[in-house]
Amino acid sequence: LSESLVIRHARGSYPIEIDAGSLKRIGQRMHDHGLRGPVGIITQPALNEHVGEIVRESLRGAGYATRTVLVPDGERFKTLASAEQIITALLQQGLERGSTILALGGGVMGDLAGFVAAILYRGVPVVQVPTSLLAMVDASIGGKTAVNHTSGKNLIGAFHQPSLVMIDPTVLETLSLRDRVAGYAEMIKLGLVLDGNYLAFLEKHQQQILEAGEMELLNQAIGKACALKAKIVEEDEREGGVRKVLNFGHTLGHAFELVTGYEHLRHGEAVLLGMYGAIWLSHHLKYIDGDCRDRCQSLIATLPLDVDLRGMDPGKVEEATHLDKKVRDGQIQFVLMRGLGSYLFTGHVAPELVREAAEVVLQKFGGNHG
Ligand SMILES: NC(=O)c1ccc[n+]([C@@H]2O[C@H](COP(=O)([O-])OP(=O)(O)OC[C@H]3O[C@@H](n4cnc5c(N)ncnc54)[C@H](O)[C@@H]3O)[C@@H](O)[C@H]2O)c1
Repeated sequence: LSESLVIRHARGSYPIEIDAGSLKRIGQRMHDHGLRGPVGIITQPALNEHVGEIVRESLRGAGYATRTVLVPDGERFKTLASAEQIITALLQQGLERGSTILALGGGVMGDLAGFVAAILYRGVPVVQVPTSLLAMVDASIGGKTAVNHTSGKNLIGAFHQPSLVMIDPTVLETLSLRDRVAGYAEMIKLGLVLDGNYLAFLEKHQQQILEAGEMELLNQAIGKACALKAKIVEEDEREGGVRKVLNFGHTLGHAFELVTGYEHLRHGEAVLLGMYGAIWLSHHLKYIDGDCRDRCQSLIATLPLDVDLRGMDPGKVEEATHLDKKVRDGQIQFVLMRGLGSYLFTGHVAPELVREAAEVVLQKFGGNHG
């Protein structure tokens, strides 16, 4: 059973298609959507080995010429320098105005290739083909593209909506469990603050989703996550208001990433820690009851999360919340749960309380939790 949805934005709309085996149909679908070649495929060496040829064969079958540019794996290559190298390679290989870029990879590739598509010839169409769970349910939807700067993550970027998003859950088979958990974190996030029924669905099928073997279930789980995120980004394309709900778990999550130097934690892992703290805070401020807190926290605590935060000072985590690029005038704000599947935005939260929330997380995950 495949899932598909259409996302509307200020200048049009684009489809998200979720189906096991859909990589083989990508050429046809791009043709159906009137996208022009040659197609510049931007991907990483291991993924190119794994699925590059399936994509190229499908494109050739639909009459497209292809060019492939390989970028080394890792967040540290999500830079302006990589974007320039990709552009140089594409120009040398004759990618013309009006050609299409295809981003094949996780969130790093999606952000980097999406950014290249946003600036090359002042914008060429991009097809997002996310291959990590995090990219499928989060990064590939909504049109945010970016590269990192030495001063911080995602500081240089552009909004550039994809023309098509094709999700093939069969590729998750080779994704590490650690990266599956990181992607699952963003799915839990959507359930916690937007849809209690979806959260119950995730609770019931957690094991199968993390094993990534049952395609019908994955289509459904990913499709629902995409629909929840889509609804929010449709309402607030440029993150002026309601889109901030997607930052649930991110106030403390970013702080944990910062304190650990972005090296030891996956983004999704940091978000899990941040959500654990935000759930505690939601209860402490009486927005959820004790049962709800326990249920939501145990969903996180039972995940195979292998993080080691031994010796971390909660005061340092609190201080780091001030360094987030989204903090204005020193106001530390949280997205909190208001009951299951519902949310609120707080005003300034006092530093002592932020510190206490960080302490709760460190008490739970302070040692090697896995
Ligand atoms: N634009 C947005 O709205 C948005 C939203 C959330 C996150 N992001 C960005 O996404 C990035 C994180 O994404 P990510 O977690 O996917 O990281 P990632 O792209 O680095 O992928 C994680 C790892 O999985 C590997 N991988 C991906 N697909 C695979 C597959 N099918 N089989 C085997 N290995 C595979 C990658 O090579 C990498 O080693 C960050 O840079 C973050 O800023 C962007």
